[in-house]
Amino acid sequence: MAAKIIPVPPFDCVVFGATGDLTLRKLLPALYYRFRDGQMPPETRIFGSARSTLSDEAYRDRAKQALTKHVAAPDLEPENVARFLSMVFYIPIDAANENADWTAMYKALDPMRVRVFYLATSPDLYGPICRNLKTHDLVTSRARVVLEKPIGHDLESARAINDQVGAVFEEAQTFRIDHYLGKETVQNLLALRFANSIFERLWTADVIDHVQITVGETVGVEGRGGYYDHSGALRDMVQNHILQLLCLVAMEPPVSLEADRVRDEKLKVLRALRPIAPHEATSLTVRGQYGAGAVDGKPVPGYIADLNGPESSQTETFVALKAEVRTWRWANVPFYLRTGKRLPQKVSEIVLQFRTHPFSIFPAEIGESQPNRLIIRLQPEEGMRLEMMTKEPGPGGLRLRPTGLDISFEKTFGMRYPDAYERLLMDTVRGNATLFMRRDEVEAAWSWAEPILDAWAARPEAPRPYAAGSWGPTAAIALIERDGRTWHEAMG
Ligand code: BG6
Repeated sequence: MAAKIIPVPPFDCVVFGATGDLTLRKLLPALYYRFRDGQMPPETRIFGSARSTLSDEAYRDRAKQALTKHVAAPDLEPENVARFLSMVFYIPIDAANENADWTAMYKALDPMRVRVFYLATSPDLYGPICRNLKTHDLVTSRARVVLEKPIGHDLESARAINDQVGAVFEEAQTFRIDHYLGKETVQNLLALRFANSIFERLWTADVIDHVQITVGETVGVEGRGGYYDHSGALRDMVQNHILQLLCLVAMEPPVSLEADRVRDEKLKVLRALRPIAPHEATSLTVRGQYGAGAVDGKPVPGYIADLNGPESSQTETFVALKAEVRTWRWANVPFYLRTGKRLPQKVSEIVLQFRTHPFSIFPAEIGESQPNRLIIRLQPEEGMRLEMMTKEPGPGGLRLRPTGLDISFEKTFGMRYPDAYERLLMDTVRGNATLFMRRDEVEAAWSWAEPILDAWAARPEAPRPYAAGSWGPTAAIALIERDGRTWHEAMG
């Protein structure tokens, strides 16, 4: 079933950091798909910009290589690729430098069109680039700026960046991207919760025992060690992606789907997160760092070897923690969160585990009754599964067996799942900020995450080691088992 495509008007998109990994791996392929599917008109123009001196042709060559590498071969029709590349241009600018020459950019952009400035650069350049855009008269009323995460390193730096960007762009023009919000299954959470009356009635502390959110990756730091070693898993994944998922699970129904109404509800959740006090960091959080091991049957080096430089590092590549949302709906329902690099599986899922019945009428020997679980699978194989107990078919007595009601989105809808960036890029052109983080959300998320970082920094112990290819340090298992619960085992 083909999705209905509503084309956007032609626009100008300037990508700063045009030679970087994000642009080549994600943004150009996403724009290509939107063009190929007829959503992005051929009059649209994409201006790559970075410090290197490159001609349009040389940049198109790089863009072509990136498409060849990151777009599925059957989707790369030569004619479409050639037409797409003819929409791509390159303007060399040292955009953060106040003495840079912006004349070529000023002349190239169409004053009447929506213009998107995508900052695929390091966050410390966001302020200077925005200031220069303003000084050189590039910020029209139809301009938007897209900021990649992380917005800052802590609350103070996030505020400083937001102030600097806010001095140039209105909040309605500012699109803070969290690509997890562009994932189909994440948006489907809104549909699941608010378009189906059955679940919303069960979505309370009376019925739900606890929630787990796992984002596991098999990759290591993949040449991003310079960034990652200053960041770590809490800043890289929890402060943004995982907290956003938690918000969508925990928020109250918004009064409408208008961007600010959805964001108001998410903000309330962030503000309701119980702060983790310094003395609780040891019992409520676990941080780990991978050592050498094997992933997918292949030996892989440890984190320090991957960094290829320092002999030691205190940076965590794994976090597990127990969070609490202090609202009436979620009273005493723990949210267990975990994420890590070099885990055995690439899997992102949200598990809502329901409370068990007070006692069982079935004798233990006919099958152990397991609690019902709703599993929302973000990747791979996007879908949902409701785990329930059923009778094993056939004669010979009543035996119980856990069974799943499964919906696989790809099988059900039979279509390619667009990458999150495709949807989000088109939303910036349309000016729809529902799936982007508002300033106060980013700052509220830092306010909760920062004390954990401070508590870790104040302690002498290093992150706990775990072997690449394992589910993190054993302390992460103990974190949940202490409460009489277990991590859901993702199915391969
Ligand atoms: C990014 C992080 O935001 O998300 C990366 O910086 C991580 O470290 C990536 O690998 C995961 O995204 P996805 O879409 O592959 O789950």
